[in-house]
Amino acid sequence: MSRAIILPEDPDLAAAPAGWVVVAGRALAGPEATAALARAIAPVLRAGDTILLQGQLGAGKSHFARALIRALMGPEGECAEIPSPTFTLVQAYDSAAGEIFHADLYRMGDPGELVELGLDAAMEEAICLIEWPDRIAPDWPATAICLRLETPVGAAERREVTMLAPEGSDLAARCHVAVAA
Ligand SMILES: Nc1ncnc2c1ncn2[C@@H]1O[C@H](COP(=O)(O)OP(=O)(O)OP(=O)(O)O)[C@@H](O)[C@H]1O
Ligand SMILES: [Mg+2]
Repeated sequence: MSRAIILPEDPDLAAAPAGWVVVAGRALAGPEATAALARAIAPVLRAGDTILLQGQLGAGKSHFARALIRALMGPEGECAEIPSPTFTLVQAYDSAAGEIFHADLYRMGDPGELVELGLDAAMEEAICLIEWPDRIAPDWPATAICLRLETPVGAAERREVTMLAPEGSDLAARCHVAVAA
């Protein structure tokens, strides 16, 4: 039986857990800059890495995830269908770098559903891209990083990205050059 989950239009973004710090950030001049950031991060990712994609509705989380999945899939990804997991909650893909899980937790009812969705296991074994990690805050995996996408006030045509991660994060160190560029 399906349940109606009523959510506010603009829910507050969750604060990062204690011990997480801002590592880097920069402006993204338009959608192509967001996609280019995803393509720059793709080569440094490996199985067990999780990127939490935080931002309001329309911030560009799916746009980033799509470009990243395409890059990881190589030539096969160029024409692959990469639907938003808004309703399925999770979509999985195969790539040379390992399995990729793309999740959107916006409509997840209870954090316990992470197990049913296979996401808790995927976070250890696959590359995971998770939109709306606010739903599981403050239980963000210590192996994850968070990319927060924000629309500057009065500048809807661009975004700003901030990378947050636990202090000393190995994944953040691997992504640093791309995010601080
Ligand atoms: N740097 C950018 N500057 C301006 N627009 C951008 C930028 N990056 C992405 N966008 C645009 O933002 C729009 C919304 O993107 P997207 O659907 O990925 O949002 P979302 O964060 O996944 O939203 P939702 O929470 O509803 O799933 C797209 O039209 C995309 O082209
Ligand atoms: Mg989305």
